Order: sequence, then structure tokens, then C-alpha cells
Amino acid sequence: MSQLQIPRDFIQLLLARTELVDLIDGRVPLRKKSNNNYFACCPFHTEKSASFSVSQNKQFYYCFGCGAHGNAIDFLMQFDRLSFPEAIEALAKFAGIEIPRESKIPAKSTNNDDIYELLADVTKYYQTQLRKSEHAIDYLKQRAMTGEIARDFCIGYAPHGWDHILNTFGKTSALKQQLLNAGMLIKKEEGGYYDRFRERIMFPIHDRRGRVIGFGGRVLDKSEPKYLNSPETPVFQKGHELYGLYQALTANRKLERAVIVEGYMDVIALFQHEITYAVATLGTATTEHHLQRLFRYTSEIIFCFDGDQAGRTAAWRALQVCLPIMRDDIQIRFMFLPDGEDPDSLVRKEGRSNFEQRLQAASTFSNFFFQAISAQSDLSNMDGRARFVNLATEYLNQLPAGVLQKMMFEELAKKARIDVAKITAPQKPVFKKAPSIKARAPSSLRLAITLLVQEPQLAENVSEVLPVFEIPGAALFIELLENIKHYTFPNTGALLEYWRDRKERKLLEKLARTEHTIPSEGIKNEFLGAIAQLKKLAHNLKIQQLLEKASQNTLTPEEKQLLHELIHTKK
Ligand code: GTP
Ligand code: MN
Repeated sequence: MSQLQIPRDFIQLLLARTELVDLIDGRVPLRKKSNNNYFACCPFHTEKSASFSVSQNKQFYYCFGCGAHGNAIDFLMQFDRLSFPEAIEALAKFAGIEIPRESKIPAKSTNNDDIYELLADVTKYYQTQLRKSEHAIDYLKQRAMTGEIARDFCIGYAPHGWDHILNTFGKTSALKQQLLNAGMLIKKEEGGYYDRFRERIMFPIHDRRGRVIGFGGRVLDKSEPKYLNSPETPVFQKGHELYGLYQALTANRKLERAVIVEGYMDVIALFQHEITYAVATLGTATTEHHLQRLFRYTSEIIFCFDGDQAGRTAAWRALQVCLPIMRDDIQIRFMFLPDGEDPDSLVRKEGRSNFEQRLQAASTFSNFFFQAISAQSDLSNMDGRARFVNLATEYLNQLPAGVLQKMMFEELAKKARIDVAKITAPQKPVFKKAPSIKARAPSSLRLAITLLVQEPQLAENVSEVLPVFEIPGAALFIELLENIKHYTFPNTGALLEYWRDRKERKLLEKLARTEHTIPSEGIKNEFLGAIAQLKKLAHNLKIQQLLEKASQNTLTPEEKQLLHELIHTKK
């Protein structure tokens, strides 16, 4: 769902109605430090002293320790782990305002509310059935699953029989249709329905908000198929969801890393051994969506594969999915299990710390990459090395430009004994640094923008429309001024919201938390002074340009006139 479907004015209204201090205080108790500034220990990293600050004036929070920052929407996205539209929904609820009807949010969530509710009821039903079935309890005991873990993961049991769900939850034809939509029933060709899951241990699959969106069901004996999953439904997309993610996020305020394993029982066994950061894909290969979802919560992912040839092949396939998303600030590693073991069997056999040592020793992305590519070519002769270079280059070009890519090309050159310049012809647009006005914009301009971002009301003091300065950063400053005058943002948080999708956002956020030493009574004068200085700078710049043209005799009559005027008004 695109955030553009939510009217901008509404988002501004919502922010105006929200008091960031109250919103945060309800989740992280704040202490008042000075006027309108509040502090707490940062909820986004582990610390003993309070580095997390909330400014009531700016409606903006910032952690001096880990750099977390943002407005009310960002806070809900980070703390409650909501998507953008979900954060808007939550704020609207908090403020008691209805989201305008043009927006697609309410329509969509009311539609699916029925399915979520139904699946929650079905989950409870399966849990009750598990308590009643000695057979199912024995099976779980034999697999050494504790009752506590069974409760954490809401494990249940679908009893023997064709119509338990159908009869319990499908009393009307509308309800039957809902059960069908939710993937719980299968339609018979000759008409009528029957239960999809029969005589299976049931593993509910939760979304990141803890709602059940589907199930995996395992047989208790040797029959086939061993596992059966819910089909894709309006609330369940296999290529996106990860089993165990909800439990991992609930157990860990911050996920230092995540391990991707193959099966339901692997996630559960690891969790039971206090490795609470494992997730599994749902019978599909890992997709880019899975990785992107996971990287919202952690910066390190370790894939766990079988040690055999099939495992290596699967790992190579996973690596290829990773290539386009390998940013410099994330890590991906590969771990291979001993023959015949899966994480479930291994962690039971050797315990938590041994298993974590194996994770610690997992191959880095680059090591596994070069190892896999080397295995396909003979580096002892020139032909082999050429093949190696060609093969590797093809993959490395898929990496986003950045430090990792550069280092991997260098490593490749070293291994192939070739000059790195020969293999890194500019095949991709060169990585462009985020625009920084620090390097180039005059300090007066930087100060003016900083003050404006921190106190948008300053814009009221500028009634004239400023001329277009040919100075780095000036265009941004003028756009900001006009933007603030047009929307009258009451504070920093509201202003930054408007710039959420712009490439300048990072820079503005940085300026928002820059500490300046100007006393509050001097701010307005400082701001006006900076503008005056800017105008002078622009004025002189224009004269310089015209003089240069004059020295080449290329001035038009209008320019001559302008130059004359400029020089006479010279400040
Ligand atoms: P246990 O035998 O219960 O320990 O499961 P496992 O996880 O060790 O089994 P396996 O390695 O056979 O399967 C790993 C994962 O693949 C499972 O968790 C399922 O998600 C999936 N899977 C296995 N068998 C089937 C099947 O028959 N059908 C489907 N759709 N998925 C399966
Ligand atoms: Mn297993």
C-alpha cells in the first residue's frame, strides 16, 4: 500500500493532534530534563545512561547513543514495528480521528478483520483439541517440546475427521465462504466442503503484529505429505512471511541477528534452547521480500543450510537473491550443518552455546562467494582465472555500488592476479553520496537551514520571495521557506513528515538534531542575519559573473544595465 494514498493534509492534521511526549511516555516512561525536553534510556539499544531525548517543541526524538530519530510516525514504525500506513492507523486511533474515506486503509482492514478474527478462533479451537488428545501430546513430548514452548507458539491439533472446522465455524453459507477464503476448507467437486487440515499438529503462522494468518500442519506418523500449509489467502503470502518472526520480535526488543532455517520444528527447538532469533520460510526458497522484511529488524542474517550438495546449491541460490540488496550496513553469512543434522536435532544434541559457536563461525558473504566461484574454475592457469573473473564479475556487478562491491572487486583482482582497474570498468552508475551541504554550502546558509528546520515558524519573518541564489544549498533553503509558508508546519516533526519521500530528508533530519549554541532570544536575529549575508553573497556572485562576461565582451544591453544597477547598490 503506497503512503501516497493517504492524503497529506490528513497526516499533518494527525501530527498536529498528537503530542509526541505523551505518545512516547505511554511506552517508554520519560523524565523531564529541561524546558520541553524529556529523556529516557533508549528503547532502541541497550544502555545504562539516558541518551534518548524527546523535544516537545520540535516534536522530534533523537538518541545520542544509537542515532534513532524521527517524529510520531517514525516512533510507531520503530517501536511498535508498524508499516507506514499502520502507524497512521494507530495514530488516528490514538487521536480519535477517522481516516478520510478516499484513503484505502479502512476499507482494506475492515475486509480482512473478519479473516483475522476467524483464524484467531480456529487457533484457540486447535489448542483446545491438543489438550484433549493424548496421542498428539505424546507426539510433542516424544519430540521433546515443552508445554511452555507449545504455548508461546500456540501449537494445536487438528483432530481426525473431515468436518470439525466446517461444523464448528461454518454454520451459515457466509461463514463457510469466509472459512474458504481463509484457507481452512477445501471445496468438493460435487459441491460442499471439507476441512483442509485433519489429524495434524498445527503450527499457527503469525504476522509481525501477532495475528494468525495461516497454518502449517504436520502429520504424526509417516504419511504424506509430511507438512501441509495454508494456501495463499488475502492475508497470507508465502513469499513474504517468515515463521517465528513474531516470536523473535516479542522475545527481543532488538534483534542483533536473525537465523534463517528450513523448518517449523527447527525454529521451535532453537527457541526452546534460548536461541530466540530463528525464523523459517514457509516451504519456499528465501525471496528478496523475506530478506527485506527481516532487514527492517536486524542488520545481520545468517542462513543455515544442510552440509550436503543440496544445501550448497540452496545456499548459492540464496546468495544470488541477496546480491542486489547487499547494502554496506548489513551482513549476510552462511552456516552449513554437519551431515544428517538439522538445527532441531543439532541443538538438542549439543546445546545452545555450541550451536551459537557454529553461528559465530559461519562463512562471510564474500568468503562463501569466492569459495563457490573458485570451485567452478581452475585458478592455476590463465584460462581458468579468466573464466573465474568473468563469472565473478557478472555477479559482483549485481551488488549495489558501495564499499562492499569495491572490496570484493579488489579481492577478485588479487585472487586472479589482475589489475583491479581492468575488471571494474564503470558498468553501473557510480555511487553518489547523499547531498551534503556541509561540504559546500556557506556556513551562514547551513545555519539558516538548521534554524529553519528546528523552528519552522521563523519563515514568517521572511516576507519577500528570495531570488534564486547560485549557491549550493540555496535552492533547498528557498524551497523549504516556501514550503513552510505554504503549509505553516507547527514544528520540526511535521515539517520532516512532508519531506519523508525526498532525497533531502536525511540531510534535514541531521540538521534537525544538530545542536547549536544560539540562545533562544537571539535565534530570530541570527536567522535574519544569515539571510542578509546570503543575499550579499548572491549579489556579489552575480556581479562577478557579469564582470567576467564583460571582460569577454559578451554582455547583452540588459546585462550591462543590470551590472550597473548592481554595482551601485553594492552593499
Ligand atoms: P520434522 O520432520 O518435523 O523435524 O520436520 P523437518 O523440519 O525436519 O522436516 P524437513 O526437513 O522434511 O522439512 C523442512 C521444512 O520443509 C518443513 O518445516 C516444511 O516447511 C517443509 N516441508 C517438509 N515436507 C513438506 C511437505 O511434504 N509439504 C510441504 N508443503 N512442505 C514440506
Ligand atoms: Mn527435523
